[in-house]
Amino acid sequence: MATIGIGLIGTGFMGKAHAIAFNAVSAVFGDILRPRLGLLCDVEAKRTEQKSEEFGFERWTTDWREVVKDPSIEVVAITTPNHLHREMAIAALEAGKHVYCEKPMAVSLADAEAMADAALGSDRITLLGYSFAKNPLLSAAKHLVAEGLIGKVFDFRGFIDEDYVADPDLPWSWRLRRENAGLGVLGDITCHLVSVAHLLLGPITDLTALTETVHKTRPESNGSSVRRAVENDDVAHALVRFGSSALGVLASSRIAHGRKNGIRIELHGSNGTIVFDQERMNELELYVAGERKEISGFRRILTNAEHSPYGLFCQAPGHSLGFNDLKIIEVAHLLNAIAGREKPFPTFADGILIERVIHGFAESARRGEWVQIAASV
Ligand SMILES: NC(=O)c1ccc[n+]([C@@H]2O[C@H](COP(=O)([O-])OP(=O)(O)OC[C@H]3O[C@@H](n4cnc5c(N)ncnc54)[C@H](O)[C@@H]3O)[C@@H](O)[C@H]2O)c1
Repeated sequence: MATIGIGLIGTGFMGKAHAIAFNAVSAVFGDILRPRLGLLCDVEAKRTEQKSEEFGFERWTTDWREVVKDPSIEVVAITTPNHLHREMAIAALEAGKHVYCEKPMAVSLADAEAMADAALGSDRITLLGYSFAKNPLLSAAKHLVAEGLIGKVFDFRGFIDEDYVADPDLPWSWRLRRENAGLGVLGDITCHLVSVAHLLLGPITDLTALTETVHKTRPESNGSSVRRAVENDDVAHALVRFGSSALGVLASSRIAHGRKNGIRIELHGSNGTIVFDQERMNELELYVAGERKEISGFRRILTNAEHSPYGLFCQAPGHSLGFNDLKIIEVAHLLNAIAGREKPFPTFADGILIERVIHGFAESARRGEWVQIAASV
């Protein structure tokens, strides 16, 4: 089995998710390029050495440029805070590496456009870490829409809500600062909702939005009486129109108490409705019009082997996938794209359309006007 050298930058939340996925992908998918965990990078030596051992890497470094220039590394996976993505991704592409980068692409639209341009000028594969769009049930929903089971889809309803900063006294962090994170809820999670909307219905072309920073200051550190200004959005909502002519409502919050991973979508079509909730990520609800009235209603479909690649994880239907399994599916997709077996999605070229939408939210909210989203890359 051919192997491929992996360099991973960042060992935090997503760094660990990538490491789990690179370790598990061969066992789940079998006939696939074998990741060789070559070089791990983070900023603090002791932690990086420890993580290197835990994640199963051959070597470690605290200098990300070593990852990019190492001739034995073919894929650079970037799981650092958003403000570092541009420099790392472009340097990796210029060094001839495939780039697997966490979302959002960057802190500003200009930085994201520069990354898309660099990808366009390279023959390497790029893939963005929009994990939720890799759920086999969303692929099934896309397939059902494409085959016309629910007729023409004229309405998309989407919510993405979490409560990771719902407590107004939670201390300040890089995610609340423009320089490190760029946008707030928009860059953190609204972009996931847009990625799912684009997957199912194609690109959004027009929108009008409102955004709000509800908790305007936070303690500088845990328990501190000094408070620092929060520089980006807590809540962001938009009315949108898709290129397909469907309408949509997209609502998002990072301060919605009780919501942990609340991506809830509905597709309303001329012949039925599809409903999905990420907090119940192994269930799809389907309503098809025209059934006998006494038995008409939503049916609840549990993930099973018909929803590829679920069957590679587990032979038994309804035994459920989890968040880290979506990352394994994403890594398999990356490796198959590199091997020329699959068309990668979303690439940096697809991602720029998502970035334009989230930055379009911010621009529309600022100007109080509708904004058009450019479709050309
Ligand atoms: N796909 C998803 O579902 C998902 C979920 C959470 C976060 N993310 C994205 O993943 C990225 C990282 O988020 P996170 O939650 O893992 O953050 P995190 O803070 O947990 O981890 C970031 C890591 O990057 C390291 N780092 C910082 N500067 C570095 C440098 N110069 N060189 C090497 N390492 C450096 C940090 O030390 C830390 O270990 C962000 O872009 C975020 O938006 C994606």
